[in-house]
Amino acid sequence: MGNILVTGGGGFIGSHATLALARGGHQLVVLDNFCNAKPATIATIEKMTGQRITTITGDMRDEQLLADIFTNHKLEAVMHFAGLKAVAESVAQPLDYFSVNVGGSIALLRAMKNHHVKKIIFSSSATVYGAPQQLPLTEKSPLAPINPYGLSKLMVEQVLQNLCASDPTWRVATLRYFNPCGADESGLIGEDPLGIPNNLMPILLKVAGGEMEKLQIYGNDYDTPDGTGVRDYIHVVDLVAAHIKALAYLDKTKDSLSVFNLGCGHGHSVLEMVKTFEEATGRNTPLPRLMAPRRPGDSAAVWTDASHANHILQWRASKNLKDMCVDAWRFYQQSKGK
Ligand code: NAD
Ligand code: UFG
Repeated sequence: MGNILVTGGGGFIGSHATLALARGGHQLVVLDNFCNAKPATIATIEKMTGQRITTITGDMRDEQLLADIFTNHKLEAVMHFAGLKAVAESVAQPLDYFSVNVGGSIALLRAMKNHHVKKIIFSSSATVYGAPQQLPLTEKSPLAPINPYGLSKLMVEQVLQNLCASDPTWRVATLRYFNPCGADESGLIGEDPLGIPNNLMPILLKVAGGEMEKLQIYGNDYDTPDGTGVRDYIHVVDLVAAHIKALAYLDKTKDSLSVFNLGCGHGHSVLEMVKTFEEATGRNTPLPRLMAPRRPGDSAAVWTDASHANHILQWRASKNLKDMCVDAWRFYQQSKGK
């Protein structure tokens, strides 16, 4: 089992990957500056697995720190989750997004190159497609991000493409996530963003938990079956399972660069999500909500054709919307007040 560097291993998706990799017997080094995560999450994973996880608190743009990490640990591959991910914030503070997401990734890739570590899984996003012209999206759909966050992800994808062209011994998997949510079924780790959330699931949790007054439904006049926005929600445990498959795939593929869309392959509306959440959490009163205007920059519907990842990685999402709601709610309840 090779040693793996997990950047952003304290965050939502990174922590679930850290758990899965530790359970799989890998020795791990986590690099995170904890700007959007809590160090206690790593301690929880150590308790859950009985494994020690080397945790380095620092910024991935720190080239000396990266050089030290690659010198001091015999690493075989990198899972690169670290980054900033709030779309609206990226519009207000584009330089931070390019500095962290692009600059940080380049610093990481340079350190990897210097230390002959050429296997990386990169967290990209469905936002690289922008507003879809045709559904479902496939890996060949046009790439046209409409905000600095999406552009920063596309820029890293292009850097990776150029790097593979310059040296085909690199093995790179670019994974474009659709809408990850849910939590490990233990309820011990989950999505725990610092500050005010802006994604649907963390907001549903806070409204149900009484921390927020109402859910605002951004638009009910879209060209969708019930008028509300449609997204391809994917359980974080399924998403991470695809990373484990992708890591194994990189050992056998002759392709230097592989790109996969990761979603369930179908969409659910906001109203469907609310209904499922109410059922999953056993509420006997409707979740407080109000219809609000469309959120700027939102697309009506986004979902992927999941067949490429299904066929090539022999992976398919196994959990449904109800599982995502049940697991997220369990984590929320268990972590409240901690
Ligand atoms: P997250 O914010 O929970 O995790 C990101 C982690 O990176 C955090 O722990 C944060 O502290 C760390 N980090 C940020 N800047 C850093 C820096 N300069 N140096 C070191 N660590 C730093 O986000 P997440 O939801 O777990 O997302 C993981 C990755 O997946 C991100 O790259 C994100 O852009 C991408 N992604 C997420 C989603 C989603 O909806 N959650 C969708 C598509 C893509
Ligand atoms: N929504 C509401 N009310 C809210 C929050 C969201 O109605 O309070 C709606 C949105 O309008 C949208 C749906 O719920 O129709 C999902 O919205 P999210 O904010 O949860 O997710 P997005 O699809 O906007 O974007 C997310 C991440 C991006 C990521 C993208 C990948 O925020 O970082 O998924 O598809 F890149």
